[in-house]
Amino acid sequence: MSTVHLRMHGSVAELRLDNPDKLNAFTMPMLEALEAHCATIDRDAAITAVVLTAEKAKAFCAGADIVAWGALSPAEFARHWIRDGHRIFDRLARLSKPTIAAIGAHAFGGGLELAATCDLRVMAPRATLALPEAGVGIVPGWSGTQRLVRLLGEPTVKEMALFGRRIGAERAVACGFAVEVAEDADAAAFAIAEEAKRLSPRATEAAKYMIHAAVGEDRAAMIETLAGGMIAATDDRNEGVAAFREKRKPGFTGA
Ligand code: COA
Repeated sequence: MSTVHLRMHGSVAELRLDNPDKLNAFTMPMLEALEAHCATIDRDAAITAVVLTAEKAKAFCAGADIVAWGALSPAEFARHWIRDGHRIFDRLARLSKPTIAAIGAHAFGGGLELAATCDLRVMAPRATLALPEAGVGIVPGWSGTQRLVRLLGEPTVKEMALFGRRIGAERAVACGFAVEVAEDADAAAFAIAEEAKRLSPRATEAAKYMIHAAVGEDRAAMIETLAGGMIAATDDRNEGVAAFREKRKPGFTGA
């Protein structure tokens, strides 16, 4: 059965797509597994970085499972496939840890949108990127026309979505979408993950939220998360909670 595995390599978590017979096409069980793993990763303070990989196949991920979504009614497709997919991909994009996608082979449609949720991307030389949805009569549904426009640029995304062109690894680096081209994309991504270990996890978490607020990635939640963390560390917050519990007026000091 198709799934996404969560494996630990010391303090680095690996999320590995496992549906190689279908070129790692993304299925509903994979979405559900990914959502559960994101919750586990966010709860584990010992995890320093996350690497997204895929079982070896011609594609890192050939997109959403065409047969599965093709069997859904329009309402099911919109509510459960597009909206649930969005929610779960957003969950990955907004993880508190630094994330790196190892694009070892082609990333098409939903596979490209999945890689776009990560903070950084490494690509193998022969890997290409594509948005082939129009070729099967639909449109990108997991932020290909939104988050991807920010990462690749409007003209490039139009080239892919409106003309069906594929983008190679060197060009993806030139666009800033990928940080590096590496024969062994998995090894290169894990090497980058090691670099995060030198840094303060709380500082990188706050930096990620600030950068997300700057680019409009869940801006409201990012700002309130940062402010919430700051205010929760004050004496006044403890005094406010204590006063409420003791049914008295709070004596705030500003500390
Ligand atoms: N959903 C479901 N199954 C998929 C899939 C997808 N997105 N992409 C590939 N597969 C399956 C194929 O049906 C085939 O299954 P089978 O062996 O049971 O027939 C298997 O994966 C291998 O794919 P195949 O097409 O035979 O490989 P290929 O090397 O000839 O072509 C691609 C590779 C990626 C060009 C081709 O598979 C393709 O165009 N896939 C769809 C890409 C796409 O449109 N993605 C957006 C989806 S919204």
